[in-house]
Amino acid sequence: MTNESQHHASACTAVVGLQWGDEGKGKIVDLLSPSFDAIVRYNGGANAGHSVVVAGERYALHLVPSGILYPGKLSIIGNGVVVDPEVLIRELDGLGSRGVDTTGLVLSSRAHVVMPYHKAEDELRERLLVQAGNIPTAGEATAAAPSQAIGTTKRGIGPCYADKAHRATAVRVEDLLRIDVLSRRLRHICALKNAYLSAMGGEKTYTPDELIAWAEPMGRRLASAIKDTTYLLHDHLAAGKRVLFEGANAALLDVDHGTHPFVTSSSTTALGIPSGTGVPGTRIGNVIGVVKAYSTRVGNGPMPTEQINAIGEGIRQRGREYGTTTGRPRRVGWLDLVAVRYAGMLNGVSSLAVMLLDVLSGIDELRVCTAYRLVNSGGVGAVVTGRFPPDADVLGTVEPVYETVPGFAEDITGVRRRADLPSAARRYLELIERGVGVRVSHISVGPDRAQTIIEA
Ligand code: IMP
Repeated sequence: MTNESQHHASACTAVVGLQWGDEGKGKIVDLLSPSFDAIVRYNGGANAGHSVVVAGERYALHLVPSGILYPGKLSIIGNGVVVDPEVLIRELDGLGSRGVDTTGLVLSSRAHVVMPYHKAEDELRERLLVQAGNIPTAGEATAAAPSQAIGTTKRGIGPCYADKAHRATAVRVEDLLRIDVLSRRLRHICALKNAYLSAMGGEKTYTPDELIAWAEPMGRRLASAIKDTTYLLHDHLAAGKRVLFEGANAALLDVDHGTHPFVTSSSTTALGIPSGTGVPGTRIGNVIGVVKAYSTRVGNGPMPTEQINAIGEGIRQRGREYGTTTGRPRRVGWLDLVAVRYAGMLNGVSSLAVMLLDVLSGIDELRVCTAYRLVNSGGVGAVVTGRFPPDADVLGTVEPVYETVPGFAEDITGVRRRADLPSAARRYLELIERGVGVRVSHISVGPDRAQTIIEA
């Protein structure tokens, strides 16, 4: 590697989730932000919920990059994000009213806009999928098929990304600034959407005029933030500035590599950074994979280590495992190292941030899934594998193979050095490092910035 390319590589760091979301990425981004000049979102939309606690104050961010809490930084929403302008403006106003300077926000002109009909479509699709699951099909004379509803956040994410792929029905952020173009486009968009939504049982129809009345003031409000973020980022890097990419959702929800079809609609891993920002992957020198010390999942889809019992309930209560975006109780399970190893591989992680370790304190024995038994492997006897089958139908049939290790009873929320953790907690971290093949660089023992053990 030349000095020049080394310089480029180290200028960019990514923070990504290695499970099903809600790992605590916001806290790690927040911790790292002081040493970066720009913090960039590259995927997802208002389905994400990043909570950051600063000086005892909790901030829940959905669209604005967590770096906004540091004055003087650029907080960039890249082209790969789908932006609900209503949510964005509400979030900016909320931050402003708490004294946070939001002038560093930059919004890609090429990001796609989540329109009101996208949310209606998300809702209708989910409703129909639930209903369809209740209709017995030919092959299943009596039993209802399991629901194929995704359990989305109903934020219009899937329909907006679908329109991005459909092209003719897409609205981009730059269109909010050229109302004449948008008006023309909305004529055929409304014709298509109204036909589609009413065929799905929707009652509301949309007119170009009402959508313009909705879009125009928001375009005006956001105008000064809307820029070509691809050139902005390249100019930044050419000037030797440092860029932090903030992944939303997480690896196992990736539209290509996650537990399809129970995934979100974007490229959630570090693989999504190049297309979601215009910055090539060769520039990304450091990827921090964020892992919760156990597993959680919101929405439907397989989760091999799920614990629908007192253990799961206890962790849910101690970890306050309720969705930041929807308030839904999260499904809870033991740490799944098969899944995390796979996610680490996809992201090319350089180190791990283990979050919410304190939540496990008080459990006598901890279990960690280190392999899967493929029950329907067809042969005689079950096959045991360390590889993750991302297909939801296959993953739904695997049985986790657990390693059981001693738990720890001590309150670790005040610990600030890895060496001072109880020996069982240290052994648990070593098990994770061995399982993923990557060292742990950050250990979170509480929600506050200060409650973090850093081994850089
Ligand atoms: P969508 O992204 O709203 O379409 O939802 C698709 C699936 O991804 C659902 O199971 C959601 O619960 C899940 N999901 C999307 N974003 C997040 C997130 O940030 N954290 C956790 N789950 C998420």
